[in-house]
Amino acid sequence: MNSDTLQGISAPAPASVVPFRSSGSEWWRSAVIYQIYPRSFADGMGDDGLGDLIGITERMPALVELGVDAIWLSPFYTSPQKDAGYDVADYCDVDPIFGTLADFDALQARAHELGLKLIVDLVPNHSSDQHAWFQAALVSPAGSPERDRYMFSEGTGTDGELPPNNWESVFGGPAWSRLTNADGTAGQWYLHLFDPSQPDLNWQNPWVREKFRDILRFWLDRGVDGFRVDVAHGLIKAAGLPDYTPPADGGSMGGSGSLGLEPEIGAHAGTEPSTPPYWAQDGVHEIYRDWHSVLEEYEGDRVLCAEAWVEPLTTLARWVRPDEMHQAFNFSYLETPWSGPTMRAVINSSLTAFTGVGAPSTWVLSNHDVVRHASRLALTAENPQGHGIGPRSPGQPERALGLRRARAATTLMLALPGSAYVYQGEELGLPEVIDLPDDARQDPTWFRTNGERYGRDGCRVPLPWEADSPSYGFGDSGKSWLPQPADWAPYARDCQRGVVGSTLELYRALLAERAAADLGLGDIEWLTGYPDAVVAFRNGSVTVIANTGAAAVALPAGEIIVASEAFDTRLLPGDTSVWIRS
Ligand code: NOJ
Repeated sequence: MNSDTLQGISAPAPASVVPFRSSGSEWWRSAVIYQIYPRSFADGMGDDGLGDLIGITERMPALVELGVDAIWLSPFYTSPQKDAGYDVADYCDVDPIFGTLADFDALQARAHELGLKLIVDLVPNHSSDQHAWFQAALVSPAGSPERDRYMFSEGTGTDGELPPNNWESVFGGPAWSRLTNADGTAGQWYLHLFDPSQPDLNWQNPWVREKFRDILRFWLDRGVDGFRVDVAHGLIKAAGLPDYTPPADGGSMGGSGSLGLEPEIGAHAGTEPSTPPYWAQDGVHEIYRDWHSVLEEYEGDRVLCAEAWVEPLTTLARWVRPDEMHQAFNFSYLETPWSGPTMRAVINSSLTAFTGVGAPSTWVLSNHDVVRHASRLALTAENPQGHGIGPRSPGQPERALGLRRARAATTLMLALPGSAYVYQGEELGLPEVIDLPDDARQDPTWFRTNGERYGRDGCRVPLPWEADSPSYGFGDSGKSWLPQPADWAPYARDCQRGVVGSTLELYRALLAERAAADLGLGDIEWLTGYPDAVVAFRNGSVTVIANTGAAAVALPAGEIIVASEAFDTRLLPGDTSVWIRS
């Protein structure tokens, strides 16, 4: 290391203590929650190359060994699987491809026996078109109570041949589809903000609200510790369903759009509203206050976590006011580029916004809808990547750089106070699978855009457990519903377990130290005097230094307890983070 590359200082001066501590001691305020995407975790039934509940139960000790506090299970409900289970045909049963309700009970019992909390997914914005409610609506006349459970409408144009408005589906194409009546004539239109197989429910209808209270109670009675709520910013649409044209590079789920996953708020022609009339409408909040009171009927600290692509963070904080939900995913954090100034800013805004309403901040870097952060953090501006990346995308990520940054970013994230989400496979350092064959892709986005958007399959490839087993130990059949890359053996869990420096052991060390030092319930004290590329703070007894830049930085005194990369001086290399006992 050349000394003129040093930009560090010997001892940072402490800045003011920022009291970000969230009020209360409920488990979810500081928990590390591991997301299981059931189809890709473990194929315990071993028959079809699709993960299932038995597989999760069998592999659960690995999560205890990892050191997480809770599991969030993506949907396992009865579903035609047009959107990988986010198209629910029965909210109170398990799809046979995943097992049975008895398998669910066994999974939950095992989780609780192992000291893990269990959160399940709730999908209230839309059902499957195969749900009995929608099937009843199809055979009922316009204006019937059955149709009023969904968003049906007459068309426009001279003969109703045009959709009711210009809204676009998140997955591409129009957000409305037209029915054909039994006699072959064209009928009403129905709204689907996602796939046509996912009709939007009408949340202005008290009947729908009552049914979802029942669904909450069904799972709460079974013993779940809470719900991750899908599209929690979309249930209520603006009165009159006004036209809205998203910006050309916009996309899906609501928010700033820097990942391209969601529409940006842009300039709009004529009378159109300036923000999407289907996201973040005020009416959603009374629904969450209602659900909050349902959860209060139960003992224990049950939790509601909002998947709401809403920005700015001060607006998102409205979802977690004291009588609404308890947590909301911090997608602003996920979308923040790997740079010192932007990371410091988003951490500050997050803690300020959530603390302002007495809620913990959450932190997340990957999930089943975004490019894995071990690839995303090495993308260049040339590649917006918001709708997935594939072999024909420009600016392919460099794998070693992506992993190095991902490890550094996770080391920073897990030191922050609040609750953190970890997506299955990130603890193995899995990259996005970019070169999936076109004919293997299954995301509706891929089909709805005729392959223009690659979609999310690349982050959903089944996990590698054992380097030398068929399908890397994913299941006995040796099959996997998305093809696993031929070069994944080094990522397999059994190749990393006990190996110093592996990503798995890094996660284990971080989670153990986080728990030991109670970082999830801590405060942030920013440390000043570092170069701009460095994020430096103290949380209790731990000093955290994350170097997002290229130049090495001198470290303060103290024992290095975890480092995202090995280095043998007191100089922290670029794209590296450390925890120091101070
Ligand atoms: C968000 C989910 O995370 C995503 O996977 C799904 O496609 C949409 N909501 C629609 O349910």
